[in-house]
Amino acid sequence: MTETVVGELADLELPVPRRCPFTQPAEYARLREQGPISKVRLAGGAEVWWVSGYEEGRAILADRRFSSDRRKDNFPIVDSDRAIRERFRSQPPSMIGMDGAEHAAARRAVVGEFTVRRLAALRPRIQQIVDRFIDDMLATDERPVDLVTALSLPVPSLVICELLGVPYTDHDFFQARTAALIRRTTASEERQRAVDELRAYLAELITHKESHPGDDLYSRQIDKQREEGTLDHAALVSMAFLLLLAGHETTANMISLGVLGLLNRPDQLAVIKADPDKTPMAVEELLRYFSIVEMVTSRVATEDVEIGGVTVKADEGVVISGLSANWDPAIFDDPADLDVERGARHHIAFGYGPHQCLGQNLARIELQIVFDTLFRRIPTLRLAAPVDALPFKADANIYGAYEVPVTW
Ligand code: HEM
Repeated sequence: MTETVVGELADLELPVPRRCPFTQPAEYARLREQGPISKVRLAGGAEVWWVSGYEEGRAILADRRFSSDRRKDNFPIVDSDRAIRERFRSQPPSMIGMDGAEHAAARRAVVGEFTVRRLAALRPRIQQIVDRFIDDMLATDERPVDLVTALSLPVPSLVICELLGVPYTDHDFFQARTAALIRRTTASEERQRAVDELRAYLAELITHKESHPGDDLYSRQIDKQREEGTLDHAALVSMAFLLLLAGHETTANMISLGVLGLLNRPDQLAVIKADPDKTPMAVEELLRYFSIVEMVTSRVATEDVEIGGVTVKADEGVVISGLSANWDPAIFDDPADLDVERGARHHIAFGYGPHQCLGQNLARIELQIVFDTLFRRIPTLRLAAPVDALPFKADANIYGAYEVPVTW
């Protein structure tokens, strides 16, 4: 058995900020060469196992001996996220931080809202929403247009607002707080305030819906819990928080990066323009290629586990690097090549196992509709600045672009 030790990598701060969206940090490739699982230090000092291998990553994510309980002391965390963790500790967890039967029950309660059939029924409305924001883009005389504010953020925000029952008129409020929360360089008091303000906002919204139910997910959850005699206001707020946050920020970043990725590779864009039936496959490849979430798929071992030639001891933290796993050359040939026809559906950009993304099919539909509609309606769309001049979210928990100026 080979125990990889903290050696030359001790000073390396992981995760490494990703400056260029079209490459993986060189350090990741070096770590993979060292083995599928290596001991590293996270920014701030926590010592954890870093999983580069796809097979090992999937095995851990499917293994119940690894816990998602973010309140555990050794759950992997970078220093700048510590204050946020303390804030979350004082509140009931949402499903993403639960294990076993508790997690299964929390997930079961909402899974019916995200079935393929249910989401397919939303397609026409999502198409309308996408068309509406593209109409606005086309109606403006100003150039360049920032894709992030014109399309990437408003589409998933409005979609999730309608699904959950959050007034879209409040989008500036919750988007600003989400942005502050995910940005690691925001002062910790401001990030904590963002958590408090978002929770207070959602607590008030849920209270309102308790007496004024609407035709929305939050109201249906309240109704269900009431019928079952399990109404728990604080737990509902935690669930509401997770869905609002996860429902717009991730998809928004994938829209921005996806458009960038396709504009950067006209040959690949030509494939979906020629045959839109290939867009779903292109979406999978873009999800793999950009793998925008990283620390989200962390775990802590509850007992000793032998994996990838090492022993992960009970209480040790593990980070399954989605980007490394999805760029594992043993699984994906020439992973640095964006190839929309490769058939990348087995990527782990949505995680794997019991916590695999609940909203993945919603995200897929949104991405497919946005890419098809945008490039059909604005066929001459192009970037209005060089890629290396764009501000990327190298300092955030979810990778993306802060601004994408486009013109046509
Ligand atoms: C491109 C967009 C998205 C990406 C890349 C993404 C990624 C992920 C990943 C990697 C996980 C696994 C976390 C873990 O293993 O601990 C996850 C979980 C989750 N995602 Fe997403 N997500 C996206 C969109 C969405 C949307 C639109 C929603 C909608 C409401 C959503 C809701 C959730 C929820 C509730 C969980 C927790 C599931 C559980 O713990 O059982 N996500 N997501």
